[in-house]
Amino acid sequence: MKTLAPPPSADDYRESMGRLLVLYTQVDRLIMEICAERIEHAPDLDAKLALAKQVGDESRHVMIQHDWMQQFGTATTPLISDTQEALIRSHFRELPWLEFLADMYLCVEALGSEAVEAIVPLADPGTRESLHVPLTDEQDHVAFGITRLKSELEQLSSADRAAFLAGIPQRIAALTDTFLGFGLNVAALFENVGANYEVLCDDVRRRRDAVLEQVAA
Ligand SMILES: [Fe+2]
Ligand SMILES: [Fe+2]
Repeated sequence: MKTLAPPPSADDYRESMGRLLVLYTQVDRLIMEICAERIEHAPDLDAKLALAKQVGDESRHVMIQHDWMQQFGTATTPLISDTQEALIRSHFRELPWLEFLADMYLCVEALGSEAVEAIVPLADPGTRESLHVPLTDEQDHVAFGITRLKSELEQLSSADRAAFLAGIPQRIAALTDTFLGFGLNVAALFENVGANYEVLCDDVRRRRDAVLEQVAA
């Protein structure tokens, strides 16, 4: 019979929640920089405006999280190294527009926020409050990505559209593997704040299937 893991201690909770906050803030700052760079190369005014709005949103998230981490009082040492950040930046920089939409909005924004949403019910009141505005904005970013990708795909031949859609799960798997390969032991961080990592991974997979269905509809 499988024994249940003991509940996390208060020290483990603080330390791991602090690290998750650092990680989320670091990812938001990276997204901010990546989207800022993309504005110049975006295909039309609508896309430029959406990216510019997102840059503003992400900067607000970074500020909110940064302020909260100061009060939370745990270490703010970055989890993602400079080399890993550079790898992420160059990945996104080189992507054509459609691939950018898939990787940024279906993978990083939708699946990333699914994971952050999973910790909201487990979080202390201050952390929960700090996540409220960011998670509400992320829904907007995902909606833009899905709508835009859907309309871009409608311009393609049905064979090209089908081929692109069929390739998305692999794109998501490759990005996820890269992230997990950074060696952050995210499973332990989530378990230490009281999440069941297996259940969380199932939720993320379900969200992936849901967004893929929306894009393909
Ligand atoms: Fe954000
Ligand atoms: Fe976002």
